[in-house]
Amino acid sequence: MTTTATFDPAVFKRTTEQQWQRAAEAWHRWDPVLQTWLGPATELMLDLAHIGPGSRVLDVAAGCGEPGLTAATRVGPTGYVLATDIAAEMLVYADREARQRGLTQFETRVMDGENLDLADGSFDAVLSRVGLIYFPDRTRALAEIRRVLAPGGRISVVVYSTPDRNKFFSIPVSIIRREAQLPPPSPQQPGPFSLGGLGVLEETLRSAGFSEVEVHTVPSPLRLPSAAECVRFERESFGALHQMLSGLPAERQSAVWEEIERELSQFEHDGGFEGPCEMLVGAGTK
Ligand SMILES: C[S@@+](CC[C@H](N)C(=O)[O-])C[C@H]1O[C@@H](n2cnc3c(N)ncnc32)[C@H](O)[C@@H]1O
Repeated sequence: MTTTATFDPAVFKRTTEQQWQRAAEAWHRWDPVLQTWLGPATELMLDLAHIGPGSRVLDVAAGCGEPGLTAATRVGPTGYVLATDIAAEMLVYADREARQRGLTQFETRVMDGENLDLADGSFDAVLSRVGLIYFPDRTRALAEIRRVLAPGGRISVVVYSTPDRNKFFSIPVSIIRREAQLPPPSPQQPGPFSLGGLGVLEETLRSAGFSEVEVHTVPSPLRLPSAAECVRFERESFGALHQMLSGLPAERQSAVWEEIERELSQFEHDGGFEGPCEMLVGAGTK
């Protein structure tokens, strides 16, 4: 039976922050996989943001630093990148990485993406890679992003498309949802596929006041040695799944992960694993 729980944005945001604080070390550790898996979508996002030498860039929900760190290389020493996230622990890794790469034009600040403590018109581009989908009040977040952009500035975001095209993630989500008896999310609620439906991202960016809106589909198969490795990746570092599972006792959680691995093994072929995944890259102009 499915329980009917009311969605509380404040509680959701608090647990989001806690889960990502816990997942920070793993998200950073898995960065080489993230870079390969999300590389093509990330490159397109940076291109659509029109980032070049001297640009001022804001990365919202920047996690352990990407794509802001790559943007920092593009803007060069005369540009500036501010990476913001609600989870301080994620940004510790971003700072460390920036120092190691000598990127003095890169800074971090803990900040809720729905309340940007930044001056109007102070950035040329705003990025958010798989971040906006987790904001309870997306309308407010986009209004904030638009406010801090200079006239002519660009927003560029990466989100998942639909569950049927992202089975590496939607299979775990649906198994966890069933086992934890979570109600299906309403279309307005945050979640991995909340902006993925046909035309949703485009309409969301237009309604937020952006012009020259474009949305591109980027096939992004997740290639790993095995389904077990995919489960390890998601189990260790996907804050959203931790959050959904948190109501179950530890032994039930282990059983759920075993079922997920059995289901994902359908994507093992020729000694490897290729999890179906498709990203949307959406951009617009202020
Ligand atoms: C899937 S991770 C993506 C991190 C990074 N953008 C990347 O692509 O590697 C999602 C991030 O969104 C952040 N986040 C979630 N809700 C947020 C909010 N309301 N404000 C700022 N960051 C938020 C989390 O803390 C987490 O770091």
